[in-house]
Amino acid sequence: MNLYQLRNIQQRYRDRLVLDLPALDIERGEVLAIVGPSGSGKSTLLRLLQFLEAPTAGSIMFDGIALQGQTDLNIRRRVATVFQNPMLLDRSVRDNVAFGLQLRRQREIDHPIAAALERVGLSEYARAKARTLSGGEAQRVALARAIVLQPEALLLDEPTANLDPYNVSLIEALVRDHDRTTIVLVTHNIFQARRLADRVGLLLSGRLIELLPADRFFNAPTDPRTRAFVNGEMVY
Ligand SMILES: Nc1ncnc2c1ncn2[C@@H]1O[C@H](COP(=O)(O)OP(=O)(O)OP(=O)(O)O)[C@@H](O)[C@H]1O
Ligand SMILES: [Mg+2]
Repeated sequence: MNLYQLRNIQQRYRDRLVLDLPALDIERGEVLAIVGPSGSGKSTLLRLLQFLEAPTAGSIMFDGIALQGQTDLNIRRRVATVFQNPMLLDRSVRDNVAFGLQLRRQREIDHPIAAALERVGLSEYARAKARTLSGGEAQRVALARAIVLQPEALLLDEPTANLDPYNVSLIEALVRDHDRTTIVLVTHNIFQARRLADRVGLLLSGRLIELLPADRFFNAPTDPRTRAFVNGEMVY
């Protein structure tokens, strides 16, 4: 069974149709990259997958459970997102990573927090104030805060946009060793999608133009728009 099954999803803001997806299935354990130009609906899709908004129309099944209206907190907690512009609490790095675990009333938190900080290369920063961090460090705290929750689905919105090459490879390694976590990775970087994804989807004006195994997406796409996007020839 797929982890997510979306059918006839439409998302409108005022009267504008921003997302229009007849069908999208996300397989358990896959890395699905979503690429597409600015404004094509990528972040909107992630908000739906995190159950932050209910779609204007259509249905979302998560792990076989049909969701409508207000999503059960227990289901929302099985998914974690690293947002495009993450907000951190004005507290220490450790407190930021601890916060979600405390909300879940998890007892033993020291070890998972230390492990998460280690994975993002920030063990030395546990006591630092979040507001003193560089953009790249803050991005990594946001990632630690998500992975510490051990979500079944991890949604990453441009997770390496502000990072230098060392940090990009650190985060890419983390995505690559994802075990059984399902990852939806939104990226402008098609090379990153090629390195990490099992499947890649191109979103244009809210429509999924093509969704293929990574290798076919890059080497033998069927839609001319995919070819143009991959070759950097698309005019927006
Ligand atoms: N809450 C909202 N109210 C009104 N319009 C919205 C809202 N959220 C998104 N939009 C619009 O929906 C469209 C898709 O936005 P979205 O943020 O999903 O794009 P994106 O693909 O993530 O772009 P980028 O690559 O720049 O992050 C945009 O035109 C945006 O202005
Ligand atoms: Mg976005």
